[in-house]
Amino acid sequence: MTPSDDASMQQEEARQRSRAEWDAVAPGWYTRREELWKSSRPVSEWMIRRLDPQPGDTVLELAAGLGDTGLMAARLVGESGRVIITDFAPEMVAAARRRAEEMGVENAEFRRLDAEQMGLETNSVDGVLCRWGYMLMIDPAKAFAETRRVLHPGGRLAFSVWAARERNPTLSLAGTVLVELGHIPPPDPEAPGAFVMADPGRIRKLVVEAGFAEPEIEEVPFRWRFADQDAYWHFLTETAASFSPVLRALSSEALNTVREQVHEATRPFHSGEGYDFPAVCLNAVAH
Ligand SMILES: C[S@@+](CC[C@H](N)C(=O)[O-])C[C@H]1O[C@@H](n2cnc3c(N)ncnc32)[C@H](O)[C@@H]1O
Repeated sequence: MTPSDDASMQQEEARQRSRAEWDAVAPGWYTRREELWKSSRPVSEWMIRRLDPQPGDTVLELAAGLGDTGLMAARLVGESGRVIITDFAPEMVAAARRRAEEMGVENAEFRRLDAEQMGLETNSVDGVLCRWGYMLMIDPAKAFAETRRVLHPGGRLAFSVWAARERNPTLSLAGTVLVELGHIPPPDPEAPGAFVMADPGRIRKLVVEAGFAEPEIEEVPFRWRFADQDAYWHFLTETAASFSPVLRALSSEALNTVREQVHEATRPFHSGEGYDFPAVCLNAVAH
């Protein structure tokens, strides 16, 4: 086996692991769909405003999860247009389909699709949306190049990634506690993860090298509010793909220690019985 065979085998294993982790939390995302949407809506509204979908357009959503952002676009492209809501985790695709049914959206189709190898025709879509997806991909350069390939010339991409971990305590503090307690290794700055695209310079490089013009990048702040300790804990254990297998594997004693330390680490954000966290995304639009 050559070193490059070995590297691509490792990448394939990482891809399969990630897909299985996302499948496992799809029911949690579905259960918490209203609270996720209520907090994160400003991020998607920015993306839709900047994508500016027109009646009749075909819009592709990548790494869609429940497809909230794509389902917003569905209203704007109207009956003569369509949205293609995609994710590589089959359970997420199923959850997005259920979400569309309950919202009465009829011009959406759902596909299991890996953003790094889309299997879609070249120049076949007018716009692409991807919220909180590219930074998790094993080879984001490949995913951006695929995005450019499937977009019509002049078509637009609007996406969102997380700003630095210090600015996103909702997601980062539990990871810090798990590292401090020795349950997970310190994050590898090169490996896919929530905060690996927090540097606008890295975003620009990936986007431009994929054949887009310079992207416009803007910070989009929002708040994550949780009514009480339980609500935040359920959010962490049921939706965080990389943590939840770690937490599930802990003894109840170890789990209680993690829970207490997470509560302690989040003290600056306690608000009444619950929590009020700041959050910041880096949103980008590119042609
Ligand atoms: C943090 S969730 C975001 C879901 C949704 N976009 C949202 O904003 O609510 C990340 C999603 O990316 C998907 N994903 C990760 N890597 C992917 C890939 N290479 N191709 C397609 N989907 C991917 C996961 O299955 C998961 O549903």
